[in-house]
Amino acid sequence: MSWGQGFNRRSFIKGAGLTAVAGASGIAEAVNVDAALIPEPARGKYDFDEVYDRVGTDCYKWDKQINIFGGENIVVPMGIADMDFRTAPVVTNALLKRIGHENWGYIDVPPSYKESIISWNKRRYGVEIEPDQILNANGVNPAILSILRAFSPRGSKVIVQAPAYASFYYTIEDAGCVVAENHLRQVDGRYEMDFDHLESIIDHDTNALILCNPQNPTGNCWSREDLTTLGEICTRRRVVVIADEIHCDFVNKGQKYVPYETLDDEAVVRNSITTKSTSKSFNLAATKCAYMHSRNADYLARIKATGHNDAVNTLGIVASEAAYNEAEDWLDQLVPYIDGNMDFAEKYINEKIRHINWVKPEGTYLAWLDVSELAERIGAAEMAAEYNRNRGPDEIEKSPEHMVEKYLVENAGVQLNDGYRYGHGGAGHMRMNLATSRKLVAKALDNIASATRKA
Ligand SMILES: Cc1ncc(COP(=O)(O)O)c(C=O)c1O
Repeated sequence: MSWGQGFNRRSFIKGAGLTAVAGASGIAEAVNVDAALIPEPARGKYDFDEVYDRVGTDCYKWDKQINIFGGENIVVPMGIADMDFRTAPVVTNALLKRIGHENWGYIDVPPSYKESIISWNKRRYGVEIEPDQILNANGVNPAILSILRAFSPRGSKVIVQAPAYASFYYTIEDAGCVVAENHLRQVDGRYEMDFDHLESIIDHDTNALILCNPQNPTGNCWSREDLTTLGEICTRRRVVVIADEIHCDFVNKGQKYVPYETLDDEAVVRNSITTKSTSKSFNLAATKCAYMHSRNADYLARIKATGHNDAVNTLGIVASEAAYNEAEDWLDQLVPYIDGNMDFAEKYINEKIRHINWVKPEGTYLAWLDVSELAERIGAAEMAAEYNRNRGPDEIEKSPEHMVEKYLVENAGVQLNDGYRYGHGGAGHMRMNLATSRKLVAKALDNIASATRKA
């Protein structure tokens, strides 16, 4: 049985009162949202309320889900972590200008590229970086893989703080290493680090820890105290810290992002490598252009010596440089817009959606929903067990969260990422991406409200 089978698409669309998007000439027309649902239009230079049609561009967020679930079933996909907005106009203009030059030979990466990284980090966060402390990479995941290859011999343990971004698990596996999960604890709805547990899982064979700040999927922005305690443990136990700060530009009002490199203890800072890119902040993931930096020259030399690929592509350089140098006002309008989506979603979920609980996060554009009640109501565990009993040899095992995903696609037209893929603590959770027009957020929540009323 494949995902697309086993339910009647037409009757679902009709019954749910939805308008499916695939095949429509534009999703803006297809998404017919009750005006009363939408708060005041956001004002400003850039129109983030625009429903920008990405269907038919081979994008993972829309087209991939349409391929999996059928176009008539996908109304609002809210899975993979990229954004539906047009990127900043200065980025598009810079790319158009470069495309006007019709030669794509090898590039000698201009010093201005690293200067844009240095200036951004200093301007926004007070982080001082020297050009020779930066290594290029064609993605944050490839950067992490290079670091693991340098520090973590095959078979050794790499710590992630779970629930953790799914690709950390795959990257650790690609490096031939073994995942060790440091469980995050939930205290009054907020996730906290468990330092005793961290100490207990470090052994002679544990060489690296991947820190995520702000954290995907919980959205936590870790405090200076948390980072210092974690840093002291890792330094004392000789565990290198890989600080993945790719989500750092998305911080909700009243919250703060503390860059790992700004910690007070020089030994702690020198025991780390930070990974970043413009890909989340300016929606440039497809340009495959990222960087890592460290104050420890020996660490960087070691990464270079173990076959790190320092190449970045021309269009990525152009886009990244334009973003960091000229698109700050775009991001400064976007971040409060997403925060506004979060406020809107928080109110809506609390007031109108049954069986789903959520505490607004401190950062990222991701919502980590507690769907354990919904899973229970729809019998997700039994559905998964039944599926797994009957699945073919080539079909992957499904979790109860996969069944919640299926339920919400079938009954709401909304695709969310199943919590199962985020490791320990992922059970009973789904991740919802709120980096889209508020109209689509409203449509999705309204559809989910109807679906959960039936559960
Ligand atoms: C925490 C984190 N790190 C890395 C990545 C992927 O980065 P890249 O596409 O540059 O490899 C993501 C994407 O969602 C992420 O959330």
